[in-house]
Amino acid sequence: MSEESFAIEMKNVVKEFKVLNRHEGLAGSIRDLFSRDYKIVTAVDNISINIKHGEIVGYLGPNGAGKSTTIKMMTGVLEPTRGEIFVNGTVPYKNRTRNAENIGVVFGQRSQLWWSLPLIESFNLLKAIYMIPDGDYRQMLELYRELADIENLLHKPVRQMSLGQRTLSDILAAFLHNPKIVFLDEPTIGLDVSMKAKIRELIKGLNKEKNTTVILTTHDMGDVDALCRRIVIIDHGSMIYDNDIEHLKHYFGSYRTLRLNLVDEGWKEIIVDESKTDVMSVIAEYQKKNGVKDMKLEDISTEEVIKKIYEQSATRTA
Ligand SMILES: Nc1ncnc2c1ncn2[C@@H]1O[C@H](COP(=O)(O)OP(=O)(O)O)[C@@H](O)[C@H]1O
Ligand SMILES: [Mg+2]
Repeated sequence: MSEESFAIEMKNVVKEFKVLNRHEGLAGSIRDLFSRDYKIVTAVDNISINIKHGEIVGYLGPNGAGKSTTIKMMTGVLEPTRGEIFVNGTVPYKNRTRNAENIGVVFGQRSQLWWSLPLIESFNLLKAIYMIPDGDYRQMLELYRELADIENLLHKPVRQMSLGQRTLSDILAAFLHNPKIVFLDEPTIGLDVSMKAKIRELIKGLNKEKNTTVILTTHDMGDVDALCRRIVIIDHGSMIYDNDIEHLKHYFGSYRTLRLNLVDEGWKEIIVDESKTDVMSVIAEYQKKNGVKDMKLEDISTEEVIKKIYEQSATRTA
């Protein structure tokens, strides 16, 4: 049965989609209209995860890996084909109303706010929908004022906002009823550096103040570095990594990033595996071949670590 001890539990969860095999050209499209020719796409392939209350988990993977499908199952939008999911101890797709009270969701660029209403009016509607007590509501707005610059947003209709302001507003809306878990699917996509920084501060602050569990999918390793201690990586629907980010960097501890400014080529980035070769001999080699004007040596970045994991997964499945 369900256990309240975890915010989210997934046991051997599989999600398959039945999709039409498409045929080319006009004749093909007409044939597709009457076709019974289906194939099965396994979007999520036997994933098991336990997520504790208050964790911020980075849920990462290349495009089409199955991240959004996982989040849709966690939020109750989709039913798993096989396996079990408990969110706050309940089965999300069976208890969608109850689940909705306990979660907040931001799906990429699809806003859940009322387009023509000033933000504060949307907040007031959400207050009524979620039956947020007056005191809690005031307290939350006060916290928002501390964590983000909301004063100039509150009276602005959402349709007049920039993408960044809209995203910020969507995140505020998702946390407003103080849900136990918030799902953020690619929240910083398309935003400028300063808005990204602002949004990271906001998420971090809300997690700290309210102990909200946050599941975050992103392609931005800056988000991961700023927010996530734990990362889960999926590829082709399967989980290929689940651990602390520090563990990951330790695992790739023998890798370092060497940046060389070469006489003809300019800056070039080389990942050196020190268990196989040493940095000095790599530099010497380039010095002889191209001439080295300048150099920088850094530990491997999160971005490169993730890239390495994808590469390993690709060679394993190839
Ligand atoms: N409603 C759907 N019908 C058919 N296939 C789908 C559907 N939703 C997702 N898929 C497929 O499932 C896989 C995973 O998609 P998705 O979960 O959106 O990946 P991600 O969010 O990691 O980019 C992809 O191959 C995608 O084409
Ligand atoms: Mg997605």
